[in-house]
Amino acid sequence: MTTQEISTIKSCWEVIAPNGILVAQKFYKELFESKPEYRRLFTGDMDKQAEKLMMTLGFLMANLDRMSTIKKSVEDLGKLHANHFKVLPEYYPPVKVALISSIAYYMEEDWTQTHHNAWDKLINSVATMMINGANKKGFKWKFWK
Ligand code: HEM
Repeated sequence: MTTQEISTIKSCWEVIAPNGILVAQKFYKELFESKPEYRRLFTGDMDKQAEKLMMTLGFLMANLDRMSTIKKSVEDLGKLHANHFKVLPEYYPPVKVALISSIAYYMEEDWTQTHHNAWDKLINSVATMMINGANKKGFKWKFWK
């Protein structure tokens, strides 16, 4: 990520973070409208899930300029997704589309192509790390228990 992209994403986050839960709820609504078959993967409480997603985005925001330091955590999240939540690599693009669209919705008229490009790059990079993590050998289930 370039310095410009990081600052674009951070300034966007400042606007949407106060509406974080609404952004996450809109994201799940859009995702399940576009991909109803993903709904069955989510077995827990969706309000809690929305909170977890926003906390993870907050964690990413705090580390945008040092992503290599959080690589292991993101890879482990990817392992959890693959092994426990049964998420396949091809599920990531529809999730990215729904997430960007929900962020754009709450940015209203302040949303620009520059915002789109920066978020697209960030989510691609996180998804790649998560998928790489899932592909690594030696995953031990008990790590998550
Ligand atoms: C952009 C990348 C993603 C991030 C940052 C992310 C973040 C998270 C987080 C933080 C959790 C909670 C984990 C826990 O409970 O310990 C979670 C759970 C989950 N995620 Fe993701 N996720 C991503 C991509 C995906 C994709 C592509 C799918 C596929 C549809 C997906 C489906 C799920 C499911 C099914 C759960 C478990 C929900 C439940 O417990 O009911 N996620 N995700």
